[in-house]
Amino acid sequence: MEFNGESILITGGSGGMGVSMARRFAGSGARVALCDLDGGAVEKAAAELVGEGLDVIGVAADTTDESSMAEAVAAVIQRFGALNGLVTAAGIRQTAQSFLDLDLDYWKKIQEVNVTGTFIAIRAAAPALIESVGSIVTVASVTATAARMNQSAYCTSKAAVLSLTKQVALELSPQRVRVNALCPGVTATPMIEQAVRTDGPNLLKEKVEGSLEQFRPGIPLGRLATADEQAAATEFLLSARASFITGTAVYVDGGVSMLG
Ligand SMILES: NC(=O)c1ccc[n+]([C@@H]2O[C@H](COP(=O)([O-])OP(=O)(O)OC[C@H]3O[C@@H](n4cnc5c(N)ncnc54)[C@H](O)[C@@H]3O)[C@@H](O)[C@H]2O)c1
Repeated sequence: MEFNGESILITGGSGGMGVSMARRFAGSGARVALCDLDGGAVEKAAAELVGEGLDVIGVAADTTDESSMAEAVAAVIQRFGALNGLVTAAGIRQTAQSFLDLDLDYWKKIQEVNVTGTFIAIRAAAPALIESVGSIVTVASVTATAARMNQSAYCTSKAAVLSLTKQVALELSPQRVRVNALCPGVTATPMIEQAVRTDGPNLLKEKVEGSLEQFRPGIPLGRLATADEQAAATEFLLSARASFITGTAVYVDGGVSMLG
């Protein structure tokens, strides 16, 4: 039981990756708090995992709101007694659109959720993580270091998440709090299912309506990632097995990043 009663907070907790991460961490002995916007959805996600015999709670919170995140962290500490890990998986996608046409408020919204929300969540959890000498994993993307057609707001936001990760890792290294970024490639979650539904024809040359198959070309390992594969890498980064790893990015992308 790798985590042996340690508590881990996951933002974006009722999303595809969040739930898979919770299942893995709790299966390894962690007490997990899922945090997400919709109280009903996060309670439902937590209840399902509790039904599997796992120690999971749901907390409604908005990562873009400082007081909401402060309350969420306080609730988790009150329930579990400490906070040992944070995963910032909350994020939103961008509808495929040229930067020339992108509405400025839409641009700002994506930066607010993906970048500022990550910053707020880290800052809210930092005092408790310093106290526990805990660990943080941010969720950036393979697009943090590569351009994608018609994804200027999303790619820029994920590049900022990667930069923030290194910055926070440096500033928390005297306290021995490790901070790393997960850089997923295309992963079968509701976020991608929605992208296929709304952007399919624009996002990729090949139109395979309603099918995740359209993401396969260009992935050296020839398939999408599963959410559990992202969870496995995140579990490693959070755990003592990664005790000398900080300020870096782990790409779980089937080899996409090696293509440049
Ligand atoms: N799925 C992919 O292919 C992929 C690839 C690379 C990176 N990512 C990143 O991985 C992370 C998880 O994505 P996913 O695929 O599980 O998507 P998802 O849409 O299933 O989950 C994202 C969750 O974040 C929550 N969220 C959004 N704004 C929030 C806010 N302000 N406060 C709290 N919660 C909020 C949503 O409600 C949702 O439950 C995201 O940051 C995403 O950008 C996903």
